[in-house]
Amino acid sequence: MNMTLKRVLVIHGPNLNMLGKREPDVYGFQSLDNINALIKEKADACGLTVSIVQTNHEGVMVDTIQNALGQYDAIIINPAAFTHYSIAVRDALAAVALPTIEVHLSNIYCREEFRHHSVTAPVVNGQISGLGYRGYLLALEAMVALLNGGNNQL
Ligand code: DQA
Repeated sequence: MNMTLKRVLVIHGPNLNMLGKREPDVYGFQSLDNINALIKEKADACGLTVSIVQTNHEGVMVDTIQNALGQYDAIIINPAAFTHYSIAVRDALAAVALPTIEVHLSNIYCREEFRHHSVTAPVVNGQISGLGYRGYLLALEAMVALLNGGNNQL
């Protein structure tokens, strides 16, 4: 049996470094550092190893996704504003074709109209939107099932 821990890359997009200070009524009071600590704790409990990256730059996000190939088994990504318009991020996710879950802290479907469309959603396995930081923790749980046997294990 292969006992190597599965490696998950968590990518936070632009302005998520401002969590805690940024529109807390929309995004909550937890800082990104707090959320990352909870992600690490949950990953340990799920038997996953996790690396976490935050970037405000579209090209860096594309590079990070491309470099995941061969280094990670899965991606959990909150592309933030790039969700709504970055074909480059979408194409990078499609190119690496790793099991991927998209997370949004807020419910993008009950906010401004321009947030209702995700260009990345069609190339990921699933999306969690509107459950705050818990979305990342739920994504880790779902990822264990995905890595153990694909969508039919969910
Ligand atoms: C977000 C929702 C996006 O519309 C927004 O641009 C963000 C954060 C969320 O987590 O709710 O920056 O992805």
